[in-house]
Formats: sequence, structure tokens, C-alpha cells
Amino acid sequence: MPAALLCFEPNCRTEYSTSAVLYNCPKCGGLLEAVIDYDKEDAKLWKDRWRQRRLTNDPLDVSGVWRYREMLDLFGGGFENVVTLREGCTPLLSGPRAAAYAGLDGIVFKHQGFNPTGSFKDNGMTCGVAQAVKLGMKRVACVSTGNTSASMAAYSSAAGLDPIIFIPNGNISFGKLSQALDYGARTFQVDANFDEILALVRVLAERMGIYLLNSINPFRIEGQKSIVIEMLDQRDWKVPDWIVLPGGNLGNTSAFGKGLRELLALGLIDKLPRLAVVQAEGSAPFYDYVRQTDFSAFPTVKKPETLATAIKIGDPVSYPKALFEVLTTGGVVERVTEQEIADAKAVIGACGIGSEPASAATLAGLKKLVAAGTVRADADVVAVLTGNVLKDPDYIYKYHTGELDDPKGARLTSRFANRPVVVPNDPEQIAALLGGKN
Ligand code: F0G
Repeated sequence: MPAALLCFEPNCRTEYSTSAVLYNCPKCGGLLEAVIDYDKEDAKLWKDRWRQRRLTNDPLDVSGVWRYREMLDLFGGGFENVVTLREGCTPLLSGPRAAAYAGLDGIVFKHQGFNPTGSFKDNGMTCGVAQAVKLGMKRVACVSTGNTSASMAAYSSAAGLDPIIFIPNGNISFGKLSQALDYGARTFQVDANFDEILALVRVLAERMGIYLLNSINPFRIEGQKSIVIEMLDQRDWKVPDWIVLPGGNLGNTSAFGKGLRELLALGLIDKLPRLAVVQAEGSAPFYDYVRQTDFSAFPTVKKPETLATAIKIGDPVSYPKALFEVLTTGGVVERVTEQEIADAKAVIGACGIGSEPASAATLAGLKKLVAAGTVRADADVVAVLTGNVLKDPDYIYKYHTGELDDPKGARLTSRFANRPVVVPNDPEQIAALLGGKN
């Protein structure tokens, strides 16, 4: 049986063909998920097969997404529509200083900022763009806080498609905007926030037959499953106690949970890790949501605020899926302040690792979860750094020079400031400043 699209709503579960251009269930409006009819016998051979592929130079095998293509067999038998920029293959890095900061014995970062366009979006975009090509779409669009747009611009241009990008005017970092321009996307800056622009883009996509590549697109979610598959492969399939990630539109939370459940069902792992999702305090509707007892109304944040612009989202589309995955894994949702994000980011930087602000919410959240006794000090923890340090250099410079203000204009404390020093061209004076000898 080929892959299908299935309504995610438990009371509906209507099935659609993967050749239909759909983002929501036409019957009930629910989210859609892609389902693959896995060959469980064959799955016994996959771990070895995936390892062997690391030894070849075939572009699909070199990709840290398509190496795991048995779990992405969505296109009816072939992968000829795939455009790969050799995404994935992102490292696991240990950060002893960061662990100490959070009160943990150890921590490992899965650094998605090593991707071709510098964020985890590439894992999903290669899959979403393959589907766009398969469907014969010419124009693709997304609204973005910056990383999705950079990634979509790159992959769709590489595939010969016409990328159209919508971003909140003045609310994405320059690094990300520059990427969209460089990768040749038509870029519209709209005077509205992410959630408002998503509604706009959905209308335009429908009216003009443009393929939507936001994370509501189930094929993007499928691609992002590879982040946890690769993580576990790199750990020789040893399941961590916790996987920690930042939450914005909640596509990644949905993808991680789905990927992990599928690995468990296929017998490739023996238990589920717990997911810990961390939001910025001014954009934390999911944090509020999971604290409800009946999960009735989603507490949308009308005017989300955070300097971590990547996760500045008040009405995350994937919240039903994300709730399911958090509950299924026995997970938690935490929220952190601007100050906590800024300090955690500096600590990750001082490990020689670095990340963009949204990614640092993971370490800030962990510090709180360890202090609260939710995460044990000796827990086996993987935190996912979602974006590259160079995505938002403005934020970094301001923090280290003591000029970073929160969204309300209050100055943050640059606890770990590392100011650049202007010096004269004089070895004596510089030596005096440096002091001592090696
Ligand atoms: N971290 C970074 C660096 C991101 O760019 C995003 C989302 C997230 C975390 C949150 O992930 O939405 O799956 O919960 N950025 C999107 C964008 C919204 O448009 O680039 P999520």
C-alpha cells in the first residue's frame, strides 16, 4: 500500500491520497499526517543498511535525511524528485560548561545549525520540496520567522521552483533575511505578525495554486523525523532520558514525537525518550495549554513577544499534534525569560558551540527543570540546537557590549559579557592588558 495522508483528529481519521494538495482535512479541518505502510520484516535490516550508506558517495546516502529513506518512502516508489543539499549529518557535541550551568552531570547538543542553510528546517524542506516537484507545482510559498524562508529559498531554487516568501516586517534577523535574498526568493515584508501572515498566505496559496511549505505541510514534518532518527543512529540506538527542544510553531515537536513512535513500533528502539519543549515567556501559549486540565480552548497569544524571533509565535498551528506527542512521551513544557535565554546562549557560546537565541531556550529550560527536580542531574539529556550562531549576530553583539534590551525596552543584564576592547597599535600596552605569561 502506498503512503497516504490521514486526518490527525481521532474522531475523523479520513484518508486521502498523497497526490492531493491538502494541508487540512477537508471534512473536519484537522491537521493531516503522512502515514507509511512499513515493512516490519525489512525494518530488521535497516540499521545495518543505514550504516553501510555512510561509506558511499551517493548523494542520497550522504544526506542525513535520505540515508534513512525507508522511513520517508512517501512518493510512490522512487526518490528521483529529491533535491539534496547534503542536509542533516549534524553532530552531537558535548558541552561540559553548559551541563554545569544547568546543574547536569553532562549534556549533549544535537546541533542542527550545521545544516546547509544553518537550521533544522533543511531536514524537512528537502522532503517538502520533493513533494512540490512530484505534484508538479511551480510556485512555493511560506511565512517565516526567518529560518523556514532561508531553507525554502535554497531548496526550491535548487529544484528550479519559484520561491515566494512572506516575513513579518522588521521582525526577523538580518542574517536570515539576507539568506532569502541571496537564494533568489521573491520576498515580501508584511506589517503583521507571523500568525496573521500565515492566514494571509493560506488564502493566497489557495487562490493562486501556490504550494504551501510551512510546517502545516505534512511532508515537512516527515523530513524532520530524520533529526531524531539520525540522533539515535549516532548514539548506537541508545535512547536518552530526555530530548529538549525549543517550541514555536510546534512542527518539530510533532515531528520528533512521530519519528520516535515509529522507531518504537518498528522495534528499532526499546522505549521512548521524554520530550521537553521550551518556549519564551512572551510567546508561550503551549506552556499555558498543557497546564489546562481539559485541553479545551487553545490560549492563543495575540501579541507574542521575544527577542528569540524564531519562536515569536502566538498561535502555533501544530499544537494538537504537539500535545499528543508530549503526552505520549511523558514530556513537559517549560517557559523561560529573555534574561534566561540570553545568559544560556552566552554559556553555549563559551563552550565553543554557539547557537541562535531560540536554540538557547533549551539550556535555559533545562536549568529550570533540573532546579525543579523534573530532570535529574544524572539524566542522559540531548538538547537540540536548532539554528546557527551566525543567524543573529546583532543579538550577540548587543549582549556582549551590555546593550541588549528586552521587547519592553528594559535593559538585560549581560552576566557573561565578553566586550571587545579597542587597543592602540602598541605591543607594550597590549602585553600590559593581557598580563602575566603563558
Ligand atoms: N528554533 C529555530 C531556530 C526556529 O527557526 C524555529 C522555528 C524553532 C526553533 C521552533 O520550531 O516552529 O517547529 O516549533 N522557526 C519557524 C520559521 C517558525 O519560520 O523559521 P517549531
